[in-house]
Amino acid sequence: MERAMNDKVNTMFAEEIGQTAPAGLSEAERQRFFVKKAAGYVAEESRALGRPLTAAVTTFGCQMNARDSEKLSGILREIGYRLQEEEDADFVIFNTCTVRDNANQRVYGRLGYLHANKKKNPHMKIALCGCMMQEPGAVEKIRNSYDFVDIIFGTHNIFKLAELIVRSYEQKGMLIDIWEDTSQIVEDLPIQRKYPFKSGVNIMFGCNNFCSYCIVPYVRGRERSRQPKDILQEIERLAADGVKEVMLLGQNVNSYGRNLEPPVSFGELLREVEKIEGIRRIRFMTSHPKDLSDDLIRVMADSKKICRHLHLPLQSGSSRLLKLMNRRYDKEQYLALAAKIRKAIPDISITTDIIVGFPGETEEDFLDTLDVVKQVQFENAFTFIYSKRTGTPAASMDDQIPDKVAHERFDRLLKLVQETARKRAGLLTGTVQTVLAESVNTQDDSLLTGRLSNNSLVHFPGTPDMIGGLYQIALLECKGFYYIGKQVKGELEDE
Ligand code: 5AD
Ligand code: SF4
Repeated sequence: MERAMNDKVNTMFAEEIGQTAPAGLSEAERQRFFVKKAAGYVAEESRALGRPLTAAVTTFGCQMNARDSEKLSGILREIGYRLQEEEDADFVIFNTCTVRDNANQRVYGRLGYLHANKKKNPHMKIALCGCMMQEPGAVEKIRNSYDFVDIIFGTHNIFKLAELIVRSYEQKGMLIDIWEDTSQIVEDLPIQRKYPFKSGVNIMFGCNNFCSYCIVPYVRGRERSRQPKDILQEIERLAADGVKEVMLLGQNVNSYGRNLEPPVSFGELLREVEKIEGIRRIRFMTSHPKDLSDDLIRVMADSKKICRHLHLPLQSGSSRLLKLMNRRYDKEQYLALAAKIRKAIPDISITTDIIVGFPGETEEDFLDTLDVVKQVQFENAFTFIYSKRTGTPAASMDDQIPDKVAHERFDRLLKLVQETARKRAGLLTGTVQTVLAESVNTQDDSLLTGRLSNNSLVHFPGTPDMIGGLYQIALLECKGFYYIGKQVKGELEDE
């Protein structure tokens, strides 16, 4: 794919790097060239040290970042690094998040530990990428106070990791390569999946919504949808490789495909994914209430594969605040939508995100939020204290809420969310449900932990060889937020 005109490459080395690869290659081919070149450097260093080189990828933030980390891991593996979890590796990369300030603070804290590792292992390379690196202030701080970092890149050019590693072998000093935006989508790079049986699949990148509190549109750029044929081909390959569950990823999946030529809707894409043999479960994240269509509800209701779970961020129950947040729906519209979904798909689980302490939030606004939680009866809610993000419209709004008030509201909200979630949680007790076995239970290794279609966790007796299979499990008991179950039949070949 050609680099588009609006790609602003802010690096002093981009031209030089380009010249080391043969001309006329596609971006994916160029990167494969750099993978080979980097592999040469890594092999040489490994020979000199008399041991294999190791690499660790640490992920902060959301599912989108988790998927990006699988791409980074795939490239590192091809280059010849042995991947490990521990951060005492020869190459450590932090894939950062900046959605709230505490995510940034965690990165600074962890960098301190890495510095100690680097002093012990001078060959060590440290790279930072992801959302936080798209913020000029954060990069400036790292340049000034964390000068032991070797490579910094952003969200738009993660596919360039091999190229940047080559460069860091060829020059001294910190290498910084941040793009402000891109229209480029580079397909077909290596990926190292975390789970053999389930996988995220990016269907779109970026966000056009500009909710007034949110930094994502600034760090992830404008919305770009992948072509349906590329998505379907990726899922077919995953299915052939044994994947049973896919999670379609986008900041706002409900606006998928609007800008494609010809346009495609998210519902249409789902109908195609449903046809892929071998895929047994389809999930997706995240849905914006303003764009959730009746067609999507119909596709979900008709589907045997789309999971009974919808993550539908509310953010606030106050119509006044929703307007200030630029969410483009009000309390009544959200309630009507949730009721419509529950009616069409009675066994659905609805989860949400809620922010407390948005600038100007009054007690009355907050009571509206509590009211929506009571009415919708969310199966789960992720609750956040508003965090001021420099550069967003909300950061300069008057009447920022004192920490004490925000914390007090947060506690009240959490209590209500837990009460309602507990009420909903036990509803399937006594029924037999399909469970995808995902892991050995961390507390008791005679048990496996799996998930229901509605995303609830189930623990049941089983052995590690059953992981990745779908089983019929009788749900015997609900303990707060998870079930204890027992297998009633063998592995499901077909539903
Ligand atoms: N402060 C607090 N929470 C935020 N979120 C996004 N931006 C902020 C912010 N500035 C929350 C929203 C979003 C979730 C991923 O993070 O609830 O849905
Ligand atoms: Fe994900 Fe947003 Fe955090 Fe980036 S800033 S990692 S898109 S949650």
